[in-house]
Amino acid sequence: MPRCLLYLSLFAVGLSVQAQGATLRTDCPPSFEKTASGQCALRTFYEFYDSVQGAGLGGTQTALPDHRDGFTPQQIDLGRYLFFDPLLSGDGSLSCATCHQPALGFSDGLPRALGRDKRDLGRAAPSLWNTAFLSHFFWDARAQSLEEQAQGPLYSEREMNNTPAGLLAALNTEEAYRALFREAYPDRRSDKIVLEEVYTALAAFQASLISLNSRYDQYAHGYHDALSEHEIEGLNIFRSFVARCAECHTPPLFTNQQVAVIGAPEPEGYPVDIGAERTYNAPRLRGGFKVPTLRNIASTAPYMHSGRFNDLLSVMEFYNGGRGHAVPEEVDLHLHWHISSPNLSTDELARLVDFLGALTDESLTPDIPPRLPSGLDPFAAMHERKQQQ
Ligand code: HEC
Ligand code: HEC
Repeated sequence: MPRCLLYLSLFAVGLSVQAQGATLRTDCPPSFEKTASGQCALRTFYEFYDSVQGAGLGGTQTALPDHRDGFTPQQIDLGRYLFFDPLLSGDGSLSCATCHQPALGFSDGLPRALGRDKRDLGRAAPSLWNTAFLSHFFWDARAQSLEEQAQGPLYSEREMNNTPAGLLAALNTEEAYRALFREAYPDRRSDKIVLEEVYTALAAFQASLISLNSRYDQYAHGYHDALSEHEIEGLNIFRSFVARCAECHTPPLFTNQQVAVIGAPEPEGYPVDIGAERTYNAPRLRGGFKVPTLRNIASTAPYMHSGRFNDLLSVMEFYNGGRGHAVPEEVDLHLHWHISSPNLSTDELARLVDFLGALTDESLTPDIPPRLPSGLDPFAAMHERKQQQ
């Protein structure tokens, strides 16, 4: 092909992608620095502290655990399109964002997520903030990576109900997606989209959802005035040997990433969810769930795996209600030894709620793509959900 024709056809491809409103970003998201090899590396104040979570005491100046980064800006941006695109579901009705909405703390505002045909999935959609730091995924810790996790909802017939072949066919037929995958994976030989590229891009996007600049963090870095007196009081209760919250919800992630049995109740009429007993085939973990992060917790009501509590004060009352008080009599749970009866006063419970409100930082909320490469409407699936509430 003569060179000018080649340029012309490249130009035409560029135009058609742009006509869809989609070429990939070449800059890293805020909080990430582009390395010499073109990857995005996370930069936070916590990297200057060296007491590692787990080894340290979880004090305010404790380092963060290992995390995922090193994706390119293009992979992160491609993941953003995929995350919001209902094309990923078998019938084009659900996107990841249907149940993980940016405006709802990357949860969905519902007690339990609704799958295909609005079926109750039995568990709440967790927030996706700071998943870059997690080593296990799902309430029962049954997935070990973001890439493995994504295959759950994609191929579950109760959720997005796609198949690997169906997903690849849908993406490969969209020329706009083929062009974007070429930008995100410039070194590949074939022009065909493969599954690993989809999982990597979704992981790259989710690993960019960083929330580490709340007023609590500013306080932890030495700005005493960042928290009010009430919030500092709440932090002290949170870290106390009476309440023991920080033993499990350990700063700075506000989770120690372990599974714990705390005996949170199911909604009326629901059977006990055995949780991590199934994952580890361990009866002593019956009713055990992964300790969730408390970052952006004010945005993600209702609470617990079962969505049983509508507000944070109800959660505090649960912890204060006495060890095992919400466990049905016929159920035998091995409650964690840090679950006790702290006998906190009404004021102290209110201070805990005040403190939890200081863990909000949604400043790095990504933009929802106004238009998707598939031409589908990213907002349709999310709006439909909100009407359910
Ligand atoms: C129909 C609602 C729904 C859809 C669609 C959905 N999720 Fe989820 N997501 C959930 C629920 C519910 C859970 C918890 C399930 C469990 O623990 O058994 C979850 C869990 C997760 C987790 C684990 C978080 C943690 O802290 O352990 C990640 C990550 C996640 N989803 C990402 C995604 C991605 C990526 C997609 C799209 C490929 C997606 N989700 C689609 C409802 C949904
Ligand atoms: C033994 C470990 C442990 C201790 C101690 C503990 N928690 Fe939890 N927390 C968990 C686990 C596990 C869950 C999830 C349980 C479930 O969903 O059934 C949870 C859930 C929560 C939730 C709901 C999170 C969400 O996303 O729905 C909040 C809020 C919370 N805890 C706050 C606290 C506070 C405040 C304290 C101290 C009074 C505390 N926790 C003490 C382990 C613990």
